[in-house]
Amino acid sequence: MKQPKKTSKTRDPKSIFITGASSGIGRALALAYAEQGKTLFLCGRNEGRLARVADSCRKKGAKVQTYIFDVNDTGVTAGALDDANRQRPLDLVIANAGVSGGSLGAKENALSTQAILQTNIWGVVNTVLPTIELMRRNKKGQIALMSSMAGYRGLPSCPAYSASKCCVKAWGEALRGFLKQEDIDVNVICPGFIATPLTDANTFKMPFLMDSERAAYIIKKGLSQNKPIIAFPSIMAFGSWLVSALPSFLSHPILNRLPRKEQ
Ligand SMILES: NC(=O)c1ccc[n+]([C@@H]2O[C@H](COP(=O)([O-])OP(=O)(O)OC[C@H]3O[C@@H](n4cnc5c(N)ncnc54)[C@H](OP(=O)(O)O)[C@@H]3O)[C@@H](O)[C@H]2O)c1
Repeated sequence: MKQPKKTSKTRDPKSIFITGASSGIGRALALAYAEQGKTLFLCGRNEGRLARVADSCRKKGAKVQTYIFDVNDTGVTAGALDDANRQRPLDLVIANAGVSGGSLGAKENALSTQAILQTNIWGVVNTVLPTIELMRRNKKGQIALMSSMAGYRGLPSCPAYSASKCCVKAWGEALRGFLKQEDIDVNVICPGFIATPLTDANTFKMPFLMDSERAAYIIKKGLSQNKPIIAFPSIMAFGSWLVSALPSFLSHPILNRLPRKEQ
């Protein structure tokens, strides 16, 4: 995949921490950043899968350290970030780890609702709060929060998932201004459908489905340009924005037609 063009204003992080790097978009991001001179701190729960991603990144010349932990564990997550920052001050932290009804192997029910809200909101909070403190000490840095196109508005097709992503989007947008004076950049990532184990469970036709390598390329480029919101594909981003701006009496009939996760 060709590399984004660099200019004097381009962010070119050397020390990068990625949660959820053992699979899907996180894995693709790790591989996209892997090269000589980069230090990658890769996190996940599945040791075998994470080790394979780390090996592939090392083959591309990156220095790699892996951390096996659950982002729902506040102390362990903060400890991993602190350890990584001591090894090489963190330039970029990507709070990517997340789940959906599909990746949990169930439609949204009471249990999966708890798990989705827990991981997708508190897992991100557990990652971002200690990062802010470390970057305040470093006096600079960049934090990327993984939301979704589903974060533009509550969706009847996936209530807990869309609520979690709305929360992450709103928090990230607010943090960007909140941390601006401190030289800490904050970006929100809102992908449409990306082919990963998370979407493998979807039985409906996913419009504009994209592979994870292409998604990683777009995200890396958006982060290098410090875009506030990296939403793609553009046509879906426009549609999501439009539907979220419509009055409820118009948006409800449209959204109620969306296919639900049927697993
Ligand atoms: N795929 C899409 O269409 C799409 C679209 C928009 C947004 N997103 C978001 O992108 C992110 C990545 O999703 P993906 O599609 O790449 O899914 P994926 O292939 O299922 O990957 C999810 C990653 O998150 C990690 N993870 C999940 N729960 C965790 C926990 N409690 N603690 C630590 N790590 C945890 C997983 O690690 P282990 O497997 O090692 O546990 C895995 O590495 C998610 O936040 C998702 O909501 C995805």
